[in-house]
Amino acid sequence: MDDIARCVADFAEAAKGKSRHKTIDLAHAFIQTLETPADILQRVGYSHLQTTVTHLAIDLKIFEQLAEERGPLTDVQIAAASGAEVSLIARINRCLASYGMIDAVGLGTYAPNKVTRTFAQEAFRGAFMHMVLNVVPAWMQLPQVLADNNYKATHDVGKTVLNRAFGTSLPFFEYLKQHPRNMQAAGQYMGVWRDSEANWLNAYPFEEEVKRMTALRGNVNSNDEILFVDVGGALGHQCQLVRQKFPHLKGRVINQDLAEMLQAAPPPPDDVEFMVQDFFQPQQVREAPMFFYLRNVLHDWPDDSCVTILSHLRDALLKAPESAKILIDEMAVPEFGASRYVTNVDMVMMTGFGAKERTLAEWRILVGSVKGLKLSRSFTYENQLSMEVMEVEIA
Ligand SMILES: C[S@@+](CC[C@H](N)C(=O)[O-])C[C@H]1O[C@@H](n2cnc3c(N)ncnc32)[C@H](O)[C@@H]1O
Repeated sequence: MDDIARCVADFAEAAKGKSRHKTIDLAHAFIQTLETPADILQRVGYSHLQTTVTHLAIDLKIFEQLAEERGPLTDVQIAAASGAEVSLIARINRCLASYGMIDAVGLGTYAPNKVTRTFAQEAFRGAFMHMVLNVVPAWMQLPQVLADNNYKATHDVGKTVLNRAFGTSLPFFEYLKQHPRNMQAAGQYMGVWRDSEANWLNAYPFEEEVKRMTALRGNVNSNDEILFVDVGGALGHQCQLVRQKFPHLKGRVINQDLAEMLQAAPPPPDDVEFMVQDFFQPQQVREAPMFFYLRNVLHDWPDDSCVTILSHLRDALLKAPESAKILIDEMAVPEFGASRYVTNVDMVMMTGFGAKERTLAEWRILVGSVKGLKLSRSFTYENQLSMEVMEVEIA
């Protein structure tokens, strides 16, 4: 117990003044100091079980039921709603409680907690199902595929680990087009996977640049201009953010994506347009927008595909070379000490896309490899995910 008391004191001392994420990391490190090798085996070896039991709880609407009720619910009440066997529900609930996902408050009786209320929300349930439907099956195949490939990562779209797991040669987003349930879950994941408190618009001098470019264009900031185009913008959250933060800025705000993604999205507000655009095809917007914006798009693609995407945007920029920019909003993997949040996404990119997360140096090389483009400035706006907004201009 002395060891534990010392650990708690060290933890409290180490956590002083740290960010929330750093404190979480310290808490994990603290737990690890308490674990025996058998504990470690239990934690790591059974890590998939939490995914499985969460999936079951979602199918059986256990989180929603508990979160909606004012008081606790019994196994019998929860089973009645789904028609499932009471003894089965009792075992699932017991497991959920052991993982801290619901609270056991009496014999066979449970109350909601923070985790329950998270998965009671449709957006988080959908996001979780994206992992179950689109990510985990491919991760299960990763060791064998890499062994078969002599431990070389594949960069061939159509021959990824996911392709093998799903028995298709379609690139992931083409596969999604044919599987609306998977497409919807992927869209929900993109809406909530990271904390909204970190906002690129707090770091990038957006309004200042709009004023400068408007002056260069030699016209008033009119409603005919295109202010902002989110390329591969999914549900259009970033367009809405631009409108909310700068309600006084004129010009069209456009969210582009595949038809199937836009159809799965809730209708946009009046001041945001939806436009179907395949980013591997030439841009259909006729004049250069002030900003093309790409968030978490290029990390899905190997270098040669990124060059194609950026080349089409460059062609549009050339219509107003001094007053149009591309903003790339992506992780810039730290050369040392990357967080789990960063490495998680990098492994998704390896498995699903034959792509990767890139360091700032790799971003610079990639942008520089597109004829006529240069990465001019970059702004870090979130440390845990190492998020960076990078400004790209005509060289
Ligand atoms: C990882 S998501 C990022 C979404 C959004 N930018 C965000 O940060 O939440 C990648 C997006 O690219 C879109 N996408 C994939 N292939 C596309 C294509 N060929 N043309 C246009 N959009 C595409 C997907 O539908 C998806 O919305």
